[in-house]
Amino acid sequence: KKIVVLQGVNLNMFGKRDPEIYGTVTLDEINSRLQETGADLNMNIETFQTNSEGEMVERIHKGFTDKVDGVIINAGAWTHYSYAIRDALDILEVPFVEVHLSNIHARDAFRHKSVFADIAQGQISGFGIESYTLGLKALQPLMK
Ligand code: DQA
Repeated sequence: KKIVVLQGVNLNMFGKRDPEIYGTVTLDEINSRLQETGADLNMNIETFQTNSEGEMVERIHKGFTDKVDGVIINAGAWTHYSYAIRDALDILEVPFVEVHLSNIHARDAFRHKSVFADIAQGQISGFGIESYTLGLKALQPLMK
């Protein structure tokens, strides 16, 4: 199975930004853990990070064209306001899981709303690096 893990704006700074909220785990560490878990689950994992909204939209389109089997997305702050990313995700015909390191519902009011939670298969928020591995495990039984 082909899974793409999409990492949005500012997530390349994990490990350096707000360690009291996000811990010290880096994006490289998240990605290598995803590769390990993916291998265990018989999934082929591709990871992608960008700080450009347009690039993220185009990568989602590519997921559609390439017929990936599932998508994990941590869109960072775009989660809370990007209708462009929502519309792109809505084009996908495969399940996607929204993940966050922190519990977005326990933070600033503006983070409580995700503009794509209602079209996601589900949301996993607050488990640190495990939010990603839980996302992969959640996707597995959903894929044809
Ligand atoms: C985040 C939560 C968002 O509110 C924030 O803007 C991020 C990271 C998380 O993984 O906890 O950039 O998506």
